[in-house]
Amino acid sequence: MTDPKTQGPILITGATGFVGEHLLRRLADADAHVVGTGLSRSLTVPGRTVVQTDLRDAQAVQHLLNDVRPSIVFHCAAQTNVSNCQQHPQTARTHIVDATQNLTNALTDTTPDALLVALSTDLVFDGEHAPYIESDPTGPVSAYGCLKLEAEQPVLAFPRGSVIRTSLVFGPRSTHKGSFLAWMLDTLTAGETLTLFEDEVRTPIFVDDLCDAMIEIASRGETGLWHAGSQTQLSRVAIGKAVCKAFKLDEGLIRSVRLADSTYPAPRARDVSLDSTKLWSALKRKPLTLSQALDKMAKDRNRPS
Ligand SMILES: NC(=O)c1ccc[n+]([C@@H]2O[C@H](COP(=O)([O-])OP(=O)(O)OC[C@H]3O[C@@H](n4cnc5c(N)ncnc54)[C@H](OP(=O)(O)O)[C@@H]3O)[C@@H](O)[C@H]2O)c1
Repeated sequence: MTDPKTQGPILITGATGFVGEHLLRRLADADAHVVGTGLSRSLTVPGRTVVQTDLRDAQAVQHLLNDVRPSIVFHCAAQTNVSNCQQHPQTARTHIVDATQNLTNALTDTTPDALLVALSTDLVFDGEHAPYIESDPTGPVSAYGCLKLEAEQPVLAFPRGSVIRTSLVFGPRSTHKGSFLAWMLDTLTAGETLTLFEDEVRTPIFVDDLCDAMIEIASRGETGLWHAGSQTQLSRVAIGKAVCKAFKLDEGLIRSVRLADSTYPAPRARDVSLDSTKLWSALKRKPLTLSQALDKMAKDRNRPS
């Protein structure tokens, strides 16, 4: 990891969320000058400031950037509940698209030389032509995917902007949020049935690998579009079985279903696996596989989420 101490202030939006908090703690551990933002929740990290700023409020964003004057912004804030986005797309638009536009507008006014690294999603793809490279045509099937795709545009139009599309992110629970792993582990350890799709495929990535990639992209001054998934395409059922193996839980609790049986409000893409060769080649390293990361977490006796 390039030394983030050599950079000016670093701003993380969505620092009260799952990825944002991991990133904040990783940068704080590296002694970086980092400031985080949240919306409805607060977070205490010794020696670091986390402020509540609604990115939908253009004036508030302007004030924030005037105060912090960041050299790097990691934009992790978004409405991330896919079902909510489907049911309330206008509200979701304000949290995803308008918020991002406010951020890039304010950056343009206050710190146009800053680096902006924003997270996007594999759900910008239709799921029928995986694995996807950065230049492949998009075709989101859900409101969330559509809004995240739209929010990529102001970031890519920003002179030093980069968008990192990632897949399912997993790792130890953060203060307020867990990953899909929390739900799997909570269900399995309670001895309850875990219902998973056997025909929905992703390239899940360990949160430490994602955070390091974000930091390195920024430290190297890279711009443009990047895919950040692991190098293994796995169905939800395969992910569940790997979790059972690593944490010695009962695989018999997994019930396989097909996407055709889905009762979720949002349509689900079949296989949105990311081809992340561009990223891992540029960074000259590989992310952990799901099993390696789960084994590491099980050994560390972390309670994943
Ligand atoms: N986690 C994944 O598996 C995954 C996969 C693909 C892409 N992504 C992308 O990665 C990013 C981070 O995801 P995550 O899982 O860490 O999300 P998360 O845990 O749901 O956190 C979302 C964060 O955004 C903040 N936020 C929401 N609306 C806001 C607004 N209007 N103004 C300011 N802050 C606002 C929330 O603040 P409060 O909590 O304080 O309300 C929270 O800090 C998102 O862009 C997401 O689309 C995540």
